[in-house]
Amino acid sequence: MRVLSKAFLLSCLTSLVSSQNIVSLVGSDWTLSNDALNISVPAELPSYAQLDLYADQVIGDPLYGRNNFNLRWIVWSNWTYTSAPIQGLSSNASSTWLLFNGLDTFTSISFCGEHVASTNNQFRQYWFDVSDILRSCGSQDKILSINFGSAANIANDIANEPGQETWPDGVNQLYQFVNRNFVRKEQSDFGWDWGPAFVPAGPWQPAWVVQLGQNEVQVRNSLVDIYRQGQLNNLPAPQGQPWVVNASLDYFGSLPQGASLTYKLTSRDNETTVSTGSLGDVNTTASTVTGSTTLPSDAVELWWPVGMGDQNLYYMTVDLVSAANQTLATVTKRVGFRTIILNGNPVSDEELALGIAPGNNWHFEVNGQPFFAKGSNFIPPDAFWTRVTPKRISDLFDTAIAGNQNMLRVWSSGAYAPDFMYDLADEKGLLLWSEFEFGCSLYPVYQEFLDNVREEAGYQVRRVNHHPSLTLWAGGNEMENLELATANETAPEEFPRLQAEYETLFLGVLLPAVYGNSRSISYQPSSTSNGWLYLNHSAPMPMIQRYNNKTEGAVYGESDYYNYNPSFLGNTSSYPVARFSNEFGFHSMPSLQSWRQQIAERDLQFNSTTILLRNQHNPPGNLNITNLANSSTGQYQMTEAIMQWLPIPNKTDSVANFSAWCHATQIFQAQFYTSQIEFYRRGAGLPNRNLGSLYWQLEDIWVAPTWAGVEYDGRWKMLHYAAKDRYEPIIIAPYYNRTTGNLTAWVSSDLWTSAQGTATFTWLDWAGNELTLPNTTKSVDFTVGGLNSTQVLQTFTTSLPDPNNTILKLSVSAQGSLPNSNQTQTFKHSNWFTPTGLNTAKLGDPGLELSYSEVSRNFTVTATQGVAAYVWLDYPSGAVAHFDDNGFWLGRGERREVGYTVVSDATSGRWVEGVTVQSIWNQTLAM
Ligand SMILES: *[C@@H]1O[C@H](CO)[C@@H](O)[C@H](O)[C@H]1NC(C)=O
Ligand SMILES: *[C@@H]1O[C@H](CO)[C@@H](O)[C@H](O)[C@H]1NC(C)=O
Ligand SMILES: *[C@@H]1O[C@H](CO)[C@@H](O)[C@H](O)[C@H]1NC(C)=O
Ligand SMILES: *[C@@H]1O[C@H](CO)[C@@H](O)[C@H](O)[C@H]1NC(C)=O
Ligand SMILES: *[C@@H]1O[C@H](CO)[C@@H](O)[C@H](O)[C@H]1NC(C)=O
Ligand SMILES: *[C@@H]1O[C@H](CO)[C@@H](O)[C@H](O)[C@H]1NC(C)=O
Repeated sequence: MRVLSKAFLLSCLTSLVSSQNIVSLVGSDWTLSNDALNISVPAELPSYAQLDLYADQVIGDPLYGRNNFNLRWIVWSNWTYTSAPIQGLSSNASSTWLLFNGLDTFTSISFCGEHVASTNNQFRQYWFDVSDILRSCGSQDKILSINFGSAANIANDIANEPGQETWPDGVNQLYQFVNRNFVRKEQSDFGWDWGPAFVPAGPWQPAWVVQLGQNEVQVRNSLVDIYRQGQLNNLPAPQGQPWVVNASLDYFGSLPQGASLTYKLTSRDNETTVSTGSLGDVNTTASTVTGSTTLPSDAVELWWPVGMGDQNLYYMTVDLVSAANQTLATVTKRVGFRTIILNGNPVSDEELALGIAPGNNWHFEVNGQPFFAKGSNFIPPDAFWTRVTPKRISDLFDTAIAGNQNMLRVWSSGAYAPDFMYDLADEKGLLLWSEFEFGCSLYPVYQEFLDNVREEAGYQVRRVNHHPSLTLWAGGNEMENLELATANETAPEEFPRLQAEYETLFLGVLLPAVYGNSRSISYQPSSTSNGWLYLNHSAPMPMIQRYNNKTEGAVYGESDYYNYNPSFLGNTSSYPVARFSNEFGFHSMPSLQSWRQQIAERDLQFNSTTILLRNQHNPPGNLNITNLANSSTGQYQMTEAIMQWLPIPNKTDSVANFSAWCHATQIFQAQFYTSQIEFYRRGAGLPNRNLGSLYWQLEDIWVAPTWAGVEYDGRWKMLHYAAKDRYEPIIIAPYYNRTTGNLTAWVSSDLWTSAQGTATFTWLDWAGNELTLPNTTKSVDFTVGGLNSTQVLQTFTTSLPDPNNTILKLSVSAQGSLPNSNQTQTFKHSNWFTPTGLNTAKLGDPGLELSYSEVSRNFTVTATQGVAAYVWLDYPSGAVAHFDDNGFWLGRGERREVGYTVVSDATSGRWVEGVTVQSIWNQTLAM
């Protein structure tokens, strides 16, 4: 028995009128079958074929071992979901409808044995009038049957149609199954460089039979848009202006003449009615009713992201009322009052005068206030969305917030996030940069495809627009910097056509889906891009992209940076200079504890075939194993990184050695990301005025070598701890030029007001002795402005007597206030620098000691003999927990108390007994 996501079950339809009859199709009385394969098993709705086959033990765990490849026969087959006879249908309704919130993807639907319709878009809602079919069904069983075609087959069929579009080689990044760009289905279902390819088919969202009387309607979707009077998309919002609340209901059925909308806005506990009334003269079409009202600015409290203020929320209830004052439908949405915009305006004279480089801005402003976005990229948390529970998302969001993150970019080639995900983000204050599901490919633009996308985009924009955590709509992933750039390079003669097609879809179809439904949300066609060149809301095409039309010396847009040559670690001149960083990274191995959940004991070797096959980074989409260990693959890159920078693990026990190698890849990953986070944070105070750092990627979809900072079950890699540390409000960090020996240190702050403090510098050897170096600064007092950075050290390492035995500890202590708080507090941060890689460092045994106090529920770690780098508390399988701090450094004699948070525990608390401690020193030890 599988646990269905509670939110799927709860997302029921609202109904009020007596004769209205809604029969939910959610439940376990379904059958999944494939006649050709002679399979027929009990099934559920919502579900996926692989999950029902797994539940019925026709197949093993899809995520285990090489099942990603072994289960491809499921991908190439058709699967039929058949209901039990549907009970409770009335024979005298004036109309009967089937309503599907999501079918993945190509279906042929029949009811009472009669064909109803076919569908071809995972992301659309579908509703069909089956009144006539029900009438002629008479006393027969009312059976609904949904045949799902093979999306992989159908994608190939569409691609092979005569005259179908093709693209220059290399433009479309295709993974395990090709031609995904012809199909409106989660693009990563076809494989991605961090995940498996299951191309799953099934009714993945709830469904209903809806029966209506005369003059009755069913609201199937709704929109609430809250913005400041006079606000326009993508432009700074006029703070202090009244709020406009626009509400719109999408319905089917027959709406009686003269219907209107009333509303009630209540506090989050429903105890106070903030405002109530009519939504004015409504605009009514055959499918929507729209009205609006205004509220004085001070009628409500603002919603703020985490760390910037309170997450004030309200309930907005909208009633659709007939001329005779009968309530026809009621919709309640939980809303927040905030403005969030992506400011891409040209840098103004005032900003130039502050030292900001010319060009255009590219940053977010919440309630008129620019802020530094700290976060990561969110990928689909499971290959099968029906398994994604609110608890899973809530834990992930708590993990992100515990990591000092305030924004996630919900990457654009998964699925549109469910409402419960935005609800949790609204409550926790996590901003969700959202995207339409297009990425790493150019897309066809034939009329039927565009019409299909238009329906999808309109539905999704309206469904989630009311959530205050919704931050942005972006068209697709890496469209301009990768796909178009590659096309321009490899096929310049085709480029004008491909660029025009790109604009047809991303500016001609997706932009109007946002601007036509919402005034509150900004849009950009591509993440990453150089932003817009012109923005004019009264022009037929409001946005014209800049592309590469850049002025020398000016700074534009976002950066996206990958470099798998590990020699670039810490080489800041190789890092991109932009206004915002939305992707950067390097992959690492998950822990031994995680590996053991999904692969066999015999495969626990760094380059075992199973692990090579699960590293989807760079091997082309084939199973040619001889190619996998060559220099372009992920395993090779991780190995290179360790050889260049870290002591090489060489343990006698093969599992211990495997585990040490996994761990070493995590150390390099943490080093690579922190050096970039530090660089982007310093950029807040440099002319490029960088105001964001979102690394790739927050979490894993399975157990595999990937860019994730959080493993599939929720265990933190070293990266997540390291990013937490560099996402503290005030940090100090070293910046080093290995060639010249020029070493500087900067303090960066993302507070909104200035902070004062002292930076201290201590030179040490690995034994922990303080070194007295000529002309070195011991401490510096400084002031750092809000969203700014300041240099606190400048020196050269050229005269160090023994660079391999030299460490600089940098510390900062500063007084400042968090955003929207007038309370002064102390912010502390430390960082450690070595002029050479740790592979050549004169490491000694730091004499780590670990103890645990039952009373304070704290671990205490002490370095008794020397400096300990990358101190790592490890814990056994059976629990998921995270320490308050991990992967840190300790000076000799330094003692650190470390608390922890338990996410799940099947060991009845005994996991604490298995906690161990190690540092970089242990990496080289034989055992
Ligand atoms: C498989 O499904 C597709 C799409 O629904 C349909 O066109 C095709 O006829 C089906 N094939 C079989 C053998 O049922
Ligand atoms: C407030 O009322 C709305 C609409 O009836 C309901 O959905 C919500 O759960 C209620 N919230 C609380 C905290 O009672
Ligand atoms: C109704 O439509 C008219 C014309 O399109 C528009 O001017 C007006 O603002 C709309 N009213 C509402 C409440 O949407
Ligand atoms: C409907 O309700 C409104 C407000 O309560 C009232 O002014 C109006 O007279 C009512 N109309 C009818 C037809 O009862
Ligand atoms: C396309 O390539 C040309 C030639 O290198 C370059 O000048 C132009 O800026 C490129 N256009 C885009 C949109 O990248
Ligand atoms: C490039 O941008 C400038 C404004 O900065 C504009 O005048 C010019 O028309 C643009 N060129 C193209 C090819 O769009």
